[in-house]
Amino acid sequence: MSITFIKSQNTFYLDGKNVTYAIWINDMGYPCHMYFGDKITHDGLKHTRTGGRASRTATPPGIDKVKYSYQYYLPEYSFFGTGDFREPAVVVENSTGDRMCDLLYDSYEILSEKPAINGMPSMRGGETLVLHLKDKISNIGADLYYTVYDDCSVIARRAIIKNGGENTCKLFRAYSFSMGLPGNDYNITTLHGGWACERNMETIPMHHGVVSIDSKRCSSSDTLNPFMAITAPTTSEHLGEAYGVNLIYSSSFVLKAEGVVSGDTVITGGINDFNFTWKLQTGESFETPEVVIAYSNEGIGGMSRAFHDAYRNHLINPRFVNKSRPIVINNWEATELAFTEEKLRAIVDSVEGTGIDTFVLDDGWFRVRDDEFCSLGDWKVNENKLKGGLKPLVDYVHSKGMRFGLWFEPEMVSEDSDIFRARPDYAIGVPGRPRCYTRHQFVFDITRKDVRDYIVNTINGVIRSNNIDYVKWDCNRHITDIYSVGRETDRQTEFAHRYALGLYDLCERIINANPDIFFEGCSSGGARFDAGMLYYFPQIWTSDNTDAEARTKIQYGTSMAYPLSSMSCHVSAVPNQQARRVTPMKTRADIAHLGATGYELDTTVFTKEELEEVTRQVEDYRSTESLILNGDLYRIDNPFESNFFTEMVVSKDKSQALVCIYRRHTNANPDIKRIRLCGLDKSKSYYVVERDVVASGAMLMNAGIAINFKNEDFTTVVYHIREFN
Ligand code: GLA
Repeated sequence: MSITFIKSQNTFYLDGKNVTYAIWINDMGYPCHMYFGDKITHDGLKHTRTGGRASRTATPPGIDKVKYSYQYYLPEYSFFGTGDFREPAVVVENSTGDRMCDLLYDSYEILSEKPAINGMPSMRGGETLVLHLKDKISNIGADLYYTVYDDCSVIARRAIIKNGGENTCKLFRAYSFSMGLPGNDYNITTLHGGWACERNMETIPMHHGVVSIDSKRCSSSDTLNPFMAITAPTTSEHLGEAYGVNLIYSSSFVLKAEGVVSGDTVITGGINDFNFTWKLQTGESFETPEVVIAYSNEGIGGMSRAFHDAYRNHLINPRFVNKSRPIVINNWEATELAFTEEKLRAIVDSVEGTGIDTFVLDDGWFRVRDDEFCSLGDWKVNENKLKGGLKPLVDYVHSKGMRFGLWFEPEMVSEDSDIFRARPDYAIGVPGRPRCYTRHQFVFDITRKDVRDYIVNTINGVIRSNNIDYVKWDCNRHITDIYSVGRETDRQTEFAHRYALGLYDLCERIINANPDIFFEGCSSGGARFDAGMLYYFPQIWTSDNTDAEARTKIQYGTSMAYPLSSMSCHVSAVPNQQARRVTPMKTRADIAHLGATGYELDTTVFTKEELEEVTRQVEDYRSTESLILNGDLYRIDNPFESNFFTEMVVSKDKSQALVCIYRRHTNANPDIKRIRLCGLDKSKSYYVVERDVVASGAMLMNAGIAINFKNEDFTTVVYHIREFN
């Protein structure tokens, strides 16, 4: 049993792999956060909190006893109106117009298997505690779900808000969780960025007041990822306590850490309440997205490994998560929109025998799409480019023993398209106002079922009638002009969340309805790289920036929460199209091989030697692919802080490892670089293949190994390490 209720203590203990989470129902009946951290015994935790400073604090309704005031405990689900002045998780407007809410514990259930969330992605399985809370006057209820797993050190949380009252109420905020952390001396690390520079890391000290990150784009976005790490000031990559918070959500979100007057920290977040309301009629419920909170006392690296295990074991489609991945050749950087069928066939011919096994036809194959101004939404083949349809090309690719992949942008519509001309109301926009453009395109109003039906029917039609094996699902703009024709005026601010629900419904009806097809996510590069998308897409295009140097940072930041196998990474041509930088082919491949690798360049111009190099790279990738799919990641050198980027992946049984060391710049008189390996078994002997060295894990992890770099910029050294018997 991983969930225990000790009645004499009024305390719930939830034990995960290396963690315990504890909730105390206090004398007033409020669920109080008592602990989340390394595994502890079930001895009661009341001794861990005393009064604190009185600070003009309010007491719960009707109780004139200061010792019961809210600041004496940390909330499990904070609410507004009755004297808790910390960030509320929920704000409800009652039919009377007041916003009072007093959520008291009512009862609990322990479920052996977690129920899925209605219409939203979530972690699979796991023993689950449900706390039922209720405001006795309004009859608004909140069910708090807590799930723990015996194979990873995370807790998954979410809430369901229920209107048990007699009148309609309105949610102005419905976050997924609140949780306390003892003290407020923490650093907050977040992942910010933009196109071609996704998931840069930024660390700031916690302060009194609220540190907040969000998206208002109806996408999780590349500007700020729905992830936050909270670490002690002494925590490093390898040592110390680290908490990580990551939402399984793909639309506008918010995450907050608040330094509160008691000297503690309260974290909370979920759906962004900016421009959000939700009307809840009598008897209706509102489900929040799930949040995953990881803990490790093995530093930030341990926190990332907890997320990686959680997502590989419980989130990513089990059908694909551990399977050898397609190695693609994608035509985008080779041809962009200007391709001929002859050119595509030549690309396919050129990689024959290299081990590349999937050809992906990117943007430009439909209607009259020869530039970015037209045709999105008209998913009919561009006969000017592909005479006789897609089928002859698909058959050709299949005849070479390769799989065929196709690009779509399901949510998008061009102004210059047949579907927009016929149904302008299908696009998001406010009647009477001109719409904003991004990349010359509009967005389908996927909050509407009839619009989703159109998308599902046309896309499933193309996929099924052409024998497609792989789909790249792109999304190249964020949402403006928020309005849905036909929805009631007082429900227009439900849009951002309804967009998420519409998107997940599309994923269910296109992805889950085609279970043998491999779907890769994409959004102008990695602008929607989140755990919600990972539930549907085993891998996501990490960035349009394929420059190896830029990729070291992008991939390092992405790995904070997301496993290597989820990052789609391609070797591209030099000078790099985005960064104009020239890096060696070996470096480009070594960095791309720290993810789901592939190629995106014009292989028809390759020499015999270059194609042989590709063949060797693919062979090498396949020989260590199980590490990328299942291994434990150890980040050794941080490219944001040093001249190096070093990542090591170790198999779960510690019998095999791969280490890649990248040096950005050489010097006339370079330092001697020595790295200490991580994650090996101290007592095992290992063979470092490229160095012909046999040494114990203890030796390699403590004394380390010196690296011989070539005297050039942007160079890599890769070591394969095997247990030696
Ligand atoms: C986006 C993607 C690219 C490519 C283009 C096609 O930018 O990130 O990989 O598919 O769209 O238009």
